Amino acid sequence: MTFPSEPDAVGRDLPRRDGPVKVLGTAGYAGDAPLADAAYLHAVQATIARGRVTALDTTAAEALDGVVAVLTPATAERLASTEDRELAVLQDEEIAFRGQVVALVVADSSEVARHAAALVRVGYAPQAHDVELRADRDDLYAPEKVNPDFPADTSEGDVDAALAAAAVTVDETYTTAMYHNNPMEPHTTAALWDPAGDGFLTLWDSTQGVHPTRAVLAPLFGLDEARVRVVCPYVGGGFGSKGQPHVNVVLAAMAARAVPGRPVRIALTRQQMFALAGYRTPTVQRCRLGADRDGRLTALAVDVVEQTSRIKEFAEQTGVPARMMYAAANRRTTHRLAALDVPVPSWMRAPGECPGMFGPEVAMDELAERLGLDPVELRIRNEPAVEPGSGKPFSSRDLVGCLREGAARFDWARRDPRPGVRRRGDWLVGTGVAASTYPVNRMTKSTATIRREGGRYVAEIGAADLGTGTWTTLAQIAADALGVPVDRVEVRIGDTDHPVASVAGGSSGMTTWGSAVVEAARAFRAEHGAEPPDGAEASGAVGPADDRYAMHAFGAQFAEARVHIDTGEVRVARLLGVFAAGRIINPRTARSQFVGGMTMGLSMALHEQSVLDPRTGHVVNHDFADYHIAANADVDGIEAHWLPEHDPHVNAMGSKGIGEIGIVGTAAAVSNAVWHACGVRVRNLPITLDKVL
Ligand code: MOS
Repeated sequence: MTFPSEPDAVGRDLPRRDGPVKVLGTAGYAGDAPLADAAYLHAVQATIARGRVTALDTTAAEALDGVVAVLTPATAERLASTEDRELAVLQDEEIAFRGQVVALVVADSSEVARHAAALVRVGYAPQAHDVELRADRDDLYAPEKVNPDFPADTSEGDVDAALAAAAVTVDETYTTAMYHNNPMEPHTTAALWDPAGDGFLTLWDSTQGVHPTRAVLAPLFGLDEARVRVVCPYVGGGFGSKGQPHVNVVLAAMAARAVPGRPVRIALTRQQMFALAGYRTPTVQRCRLGADRDGRLTALAVDVVEQTSRIKEFAEQTGVPARMMYAAANRRTTHRLAALDVPVPSWMRAPGECPGMFGPEVAMDELAERLGLDPVELRIRNEPAVEPGSGKPFSSRDLVGCLREGAARFDWARRDPRPGVRRRGDWLVGTGVAASTYPVNRMTKSTATIRREGGRYVAEIGAADLGTGTWTTLAQIAADALGVPVDRVEVRIGDTDHPVASVAGGSSGMTTWGSAVVEAARAFRAEHGAEPPDGAEASGAVGPADDRYAMHAFGAQFAEARVHIDTGEVRVARLLGVFAAGRIINPRTARSQFVGGMTMGLSMALHEQSVLDPRTGHVVNHDFADYHIAANADVDGIEAHWLPEHDPHVNAMGSKGIGEIGIVGTAAAVSNAVWHACGVRVRNLPITLDKVL
């Protein structure tokens, strides 16, 4: 199934349709849900990392003017399912991590709710906790699967023998830090329980997927999905942390049912987001490479150690990208987890690929150094003919094109390979490169409806726009699939009243929803012809992926780093990414995704790091004063380019997902540039000045 004719709207630089309402401040986010007389919620959090609550004194809180109720494990509703222990809030007195919710205040204003929460007295029976991830722990275990459904370990050939026989080897350990997703809009939910009939729950939630949120929430409350509606037309960012509902959604629903007929609102504070909304696990990656004198890889091994929580397993697939990047006859990857007394880790932009392309891509640079070979050339020499592991042909793979285009734009040919020899004033200057990749993911469940309404064409699907461009790009796809001008197409998304849509996650949105829209348009044209009457309607669903091919987007990241000779301050003067990511639906929204991802990668390289105090299990830098994120002044120049690529196998549009690839490989390129600048290999992120002095 492809477009009926050459695309006209797809590929055009159209402005965001949601731009004006966002700039005017009239876009209705979850916190703006127009609800009169809403009650406000504030969570009371545990101040120990493991143990039991032995006493909860709510007297002072309840005595405060404006407090409606205080929910505790003794008074809160029993959930119909407590299997997901992250979401089984206020169901018992056990404390599994510091910051866990132990009580919930419902009050007439957010200020009163917050003040009352501080008046709740909590007694604890603490137990010794353990929050320290180390690769030498003796309780590491192999998970059954890593996210979302990959084997934990893979092995082909004989890595140890190949390493022993290799002319040149690298054997180093790399680490990435704990990172917290920090979208501008905090996790926010409003809820209204209408007790009429059998009862009906409406949630206005800041989410990456209204239907997935409903699918998780309804059974927790023993409700049929038809009795729950989730509304979310706009999202102020998510980066994965709104891909699955967190405890704020459960608390909102619980409180709404405790005060039937009265709406409730909750917004996590920035500090609460550091315990309650997911995060990226720290990783330890031992990377071993073996190569012959010409730089052809003979062995590649990546052994990953990372953490999960004691109450719910999340295994980041950090070793997965190394399985398919380069040709090497002998390959091995492993994942081992420590289950700690920590909050539950989850998705953060490019789970797996983002941390998992740090170690191997710095190791490739170290290998190039030892071989005396250019790092761009080393990667080109190790291009696989088919996907390593599966043996499948790539639907398209243009890593080489990205490397060459980037090298040309970066003037790479004139690069002196020696480290530490270029100086500009008080700064040492260097350049580095790393590869980037992200899979083309397609979800199974998405349906779109197209209807003729008042001379326009309306495309409806419960999709999400996290700032990514969905409002605009789905209209472009629908217009071309219908063969009508794009200004005659209206898009409606972000509501479970629309046809079912998959999560905006895994960079799968356009592939999945776009395919459903194209199918709906095909059905619409077939059923209603060229002159459809008003009210004409048709639906279509996303079909299965073509599993004969290995489908991935690729990219090359180039960085110029400067290291101050006295202070060790590291600055990134220039970042340049070239991507081969299928057909680009809209260059404006696409560039924003690439540049946004690269900025987040720069942030990971130089700044971001959640500092967990082992004595308390507390992230001590849990706010924007101390958790550093690259700001305007940290970004000197970022360019994103892409190669013309139309992949006929991935979907009707020929497009690949682009929301996540920009963050992949960026930190490795920066670390490689820092080495080239000053001669110091920084294998442990972030690259702070103490590590280069
Ligand atoms: Mo992305 S972390 O899969 O929302």
